[in-house]
Amino acid sequence: MAASPPVSSADLPLPPGPPWYRIHEAFRTSPPQYIYGLIREYGDIVRFRGAFPVYCINHPDHVRQILTKAWPQYTKNTIDYRVIARTLGRGLVTNDGPDWARQRRLMQPVFANRHIDTFDGVINDMTAELVADWRRRRSDETVWLERDMSRVTFKVVSRTLFGADIDEVADEMVGILDVLNQHPMKLSALLTLFPWLPVPSNRRFARIKGRLDDIVDGLVALHRKGGGAPGDIVHRLLDARDEDTGEGMDEAQMRDEIITLMLAGHETSATALTWTFYQLAQNPHVEQRLVAELDRVLGGRPAQSADLAQLPYLKQVVQESMRLYPPVWGIARRATEETAFGGYRIPAGAYLSITMYSLHRHPEYWPDPERFDPERFAPNRAQSRHSYAYLPFAAGPRACIGAGMAMLEIQLVLAQLLQQFRVHPRPGHPVVPLPVVTYKPRYGLPVTLAPR
Ligand code: HEM
Repeated sequence: MAASPPVSSADLPLPPGPPWYRIHEAFRTSPPQYIYGLIREYGDIVRFRGAFPVYCINHPDHVRQILTKAWPQYTKNTIDYRVIARTLGRGLVTNDGPDWARQRRLMQPVFANRHIDTFDGVINDMTAELVADWRRRRSDETVWLERDMSRVTFKVVSRTLFGADIDEVADEMVGILDVLNQHPMKLSALLTLFPWLPVPSNRRFARIKGRLDDIVDGLVALHRKGGGAPGDIVHRLLDARDEDTGEGMDEAQMRDEIITLMLAGHETSATALTWTFYQLAQNPHVEQRLVAELDRVLGGRPAQSADLAQLPYLKQVVQESMRLYPPVWGIARRATEETAFGGYRIPAGAYLSITMYSLHRHPEYWPDPERFDPERFAPNRAQSRHSYAYLPFAAGPRACIGAGMAMLEIQLVLAQLLQQFRVHPRPGHPVVPLPVVTYKPRYGLPVTLAPR
């Protein structure tokens, strides 16, 4: 029998998806929920048309192909990253190609575990300040949890970057980052792609971004004169040298990396903490078991990085929380070449979306996906699962450089706060996710506090 000729991807059909006249459905819900709905209806590869065709990829094998096996074929040259780059410049998140590779090589050692583990003192000190503040609250007083979590994670990232030098400008910086972080999908954010357009939003953006650049340049200049704390991240970045060329970073690159770390490293961890408290409140049996583990191992003191090995349930709770509420709900890539996944053609130039929100609910790997169950991450069960079915920090060469720091911070903050307080969400308040870059509660999360 003659062998059948190899099928070229050009002969394959495009992936299935909704007809154009169903696009209005996209506006009825949020992007991650819309994509999840399409995946349940059409399967693991879906194509839908928004302003342009979007290819949603939801099988862990294909995700591995994009993020790891063939990663150079999938770039970040997409509209989302171009908008974010107006704020982050050419920092690690938005950079691409050889420039990105050089910067990642330079910065990877700064985030090695042996450095990150030394941040436990800063994390615990910043959490202790929040504990002191919470102790002053009346039992019926409303505390906006997402704001307090954001405050503590901002303090952690800025102190680990700059030492105490940041304190004088911290409030101004929080205000600036809030504005820059708000709704990057808004029209005004798209307009920043055309900075020469004389619209008020562009002038405002330029003013705010200019001020942020000045503050960061000022702090770096102080570091060059010996300011900051020994071993802080900015000192390490200033000392970092490329192994091949012996060169360090210039001032503009340093500024972009610092702004990137501040933004990437603060809202994400705050979001994870906020949703974890929320889910513990919905699942009191999980909270009880977790608090019992903390009491047994720590007996009321804050956790150090070395304690975490003795606190397996704490990690499982955080992992399960980020499964259901992944702080980064999805990422985008552009295919530079034509390719095929699962029998479907993906054209060159296609915009690909990997949606952690739906990947983390894939029924083959996550039975009863909406149920909050930290047992899913018990070591024996986690080991037998596809390693690309759970990607809160993405994967491959462009995985989150701060994953170790984020996990340390989230666990330490939780350990300290949970040993001292019960956190009760205000009954009746609508808790609806708002997926901008991070997946936050749209109307905030008001809570009351009760000392344990
Ligand atoms: C729970 C907290 C966090 C989550 C869920 C998270 C998630 C992610 C994800 C999904 C990516 C990949 C983005 C993409 O491919 O487009 C990423 C990249 C990145 N993250 Fe995080 N992140 C967290 C905390 C942090 C922290 C604490 C830092 C630093 C202080 C940080 C710094 C970065 C940087 C620099 C990149 C770009 C890496 C590269 O492309 O080389 N992140 N993060």
